[in-house]
Amino acid sequence: MLRVEGLHAHYGQAHILHGISLEVAQGEIVCLLGRNGAGKSTTMKSIMGLVPPSAGCVEFDGRDLAGRPAFEIARAGIGYVPEERRIFTELTVEENLAVGRRPAPAGMKPWTPERAYELFPVLGEMRRRPGGRMSGGEQQMLTIARTLMGNPRLLLLDEPSEGLAPVIVERMATAILALKREGLSILLSEQNLVFANAVADRACLIETGQLRHTASMAALMADEAVRARYLSV
Ligand SMILES: Nc1ncnc2c1ncn2[C@@H]1O[C@H](COP(=O)(O)OP(=O)(O)O)[C@@H](O)[C@H]1O
Ligand SMILES: [Mg+2]
Repeated sequence: MLRVEGLHAHYGQAHILHGISLEVAQGEIVCLLGRNGAGKSTTMKSIMGLVPPSAGCVEFDGRDLAGRPAFEIARAGIGYVPEERRIFTELTVEENLAVGRRPAPAGMKPWTPERAYELFPVLGEMRRRPGGRMSGGEQQMLTIARTLMGNPRLLLLDEPSEGLAPVIVERMATAILALKREGLSILLSEQNLVFANAVADRACLIETGQLRHTASMAALMADEAVRARYLSV
């Protein structure tokens, strides 16, 4: 579904991504793993067109999107949830969801606020609450729910468990697995290996903007040497 090949990206003169290649199949959850500063967020921003790739291809459903503007990439069916939560603090939960609403492609069951509340029951309990008066975990759920209202077929989730209390992390994992059961494809980034192992099928390990290792999540959990080399601090 998504095929990234030889992706390079720069911030000004700084060369950050050095030829990242990865694939996400239909219905698969792939996790980008790597230490702080490895290039996980830049990979996602580059796929999304927010940091335009300086070289490489980003193929989605057989169409090359590299160099296209972000709104066009979103319209093609890729939803992006950045590391920093992006909700409208003055708007209520239901208003935030209304802002995210986009028509669903043919043949797809469209997301509705009710479906989002089934996925994240806590949002249904506070639908009239302004976003600014929610906890960090609730805001993270709202950010994901709002992105789902755009009916993406591929979701990019940048460190969804970051900074969340353990009980909320567990709810987040449950929600991500529910999305997988519905057939959504997901590329997420994580530093929390336990969380990654709970949800992902495959892992892509990156270091200094390069893809170093790809393995099934199970193989990675059994490979202490690789984990120590690319993940431990
Ligand atoms: N806006 C920016 N301008 C310049 N350098 C940046 C910017 N954002 C990130 N970087 C640098 O790019 C590298 C990769 O960062 P990032 O993709 O955020 O890593 P990760 O998400 O894996 O922690 C780091 O060295 C970081 O300092
Ligand atoms: Mg990051």
